[in-house]
Amino acid sequence: MSDKVEVALTINGKVYRALVEPRLLLADFIRHVAGLKGTHIGCEHGVCGACTVLLDGKTARSCLHFAIAVQDSEIRTVEALGTAEALHPCSRRFTSTTPCSAATARRASC
Ligand code: FES
Repeated sequence: MSDKVEVALTINGKVYRALVEPRLLLADFIRHVAGLKGTHIGCEHGVCGACTVLLDGKTARSCLHFAIAVQDSEIRTVEALGTAEALHPCSRRFTSTTPCSAATARRASC
């Protein structure tokens, strides 16, 4: 018998469904199920911000949320912001703050 549960998340306007462990973090769902690598995992304690996404329009640390708990939310990752040629103001701001977030902004724009 499997302990997995079906989770459906709307990320950047697209619905991703998967059978996952109930304790799977949103950050891991985004990276490993949805394949969106712009969301990074650093500290896994809500401190570094590498995993930041927009959850119903508000910033959230995706390492602090279980994927199953945010099924009714609209999730946006850095991939939904701007393009490589025209960075979103948020991505521009990242590139001027820390080396880690600059890498996030560049990867998200590829
Ligand atoms: S991985 Fe550092 S805040 Fe989420």
